[in-house]
Amino acid sequence: MTTHPHPSGLIGIFDSGYGGLTIFDKIAQAMPQYNYIYLGDNARAPYGTRSFEVVYRFTRQAVGRLFEEGCQLVILACNTASAKALRTIQQRDLPLMDPTRRVLGVIRPTVEAIDSISRTKHIGVLGTSGTISSLSYTIEIEKMFPYMTVTGEACPMWVPLVENNEFDSPGADYFIRQHIEHILAVDPAIDTLILGCTHYPLLIRKIRRYLPEGVALFAQGERVAESLKDYLARHPEMDSRLGKQSTRRFLTTESAGRFSESASLFLSRPIEAEQIVIS
Ligand code: DGL
Repeated sequence: MTTHPHPSGLIGIFDSGYGGLTIFDKIAQAMPQYNYIYLGDNARAPYGTRSFEVVYRFTRQAVGRLFEEGCQLVILACNTASAKALRTIQQRDLPLMDPTRRVLGVIRPTVEAIDSISRTKHIGVLGTSGTISSLSYTIEIEKMFPYMTVTGEACPMWVPLVENNEFDSPGADYFIRQHIEHILAVDPAIDTLILGCTHYPLLIRKIRRYLPEGVALFAQGERVAESLKDYLARHPEMDSRLGKQSTRRFLTTESAGRFSESASLFLSRPIEAEQIVIS
């Protein structure tokens, strides 16, 4: 095993916009010692309605940039990017870019946790149109737990509600209720709803208002953090390359001022962002 006397590697956390901050927050709380760099591709968000090819291309560019910034490990803290780009990046690009670095997603760790939560083994997945139409959750769940029944529901208005700071407005209730009622009508045996989009934790308060008793909501932040902790414990060769000075940087492809302002909604504390261009 190669050891680095002064490791300087960063952990990169990527999302199309602000949503990944909900994952970053849980990861940084669970492992505050590492050096993190967050990248939100806000100028090109949302990704949820974009084609496979475009989400893959944008995500690959973001991963390339995070590698250039010194990341040894990148978490795609975006379900849409995890659904549409992760596999190709892991299998095709990483061996050419740098086979010693790693790119991990959020879907698998989320799926691993659901068996212990659901009693009925009927699961609902709420996500962007891209995540739901990719069937990534359905395929992953059926592979891991073949006895489960999975129903997906695309909620295309939920990300814009969050991105436009309308998540707490009365108008949001209409779109939230519509999808909760619809998915539970499609399969009334659902007892666990996965929030399969990193933006959705901001809507939790309103979602709960329309949930019948006995239906649990599963937000992925803590689970992804736990899974990363476990990964680093099992991969000391990666851990030894990571700096541990608790530094944080926030990069965005949109205006830094706008990002800094909105990010505080997700993190409940002020941050300073830097604007970058990626291509
Ligand atoms: N944060 C992304 C996800 O988790 C969705 C936002 C978008 O559509 O860009 O799927």
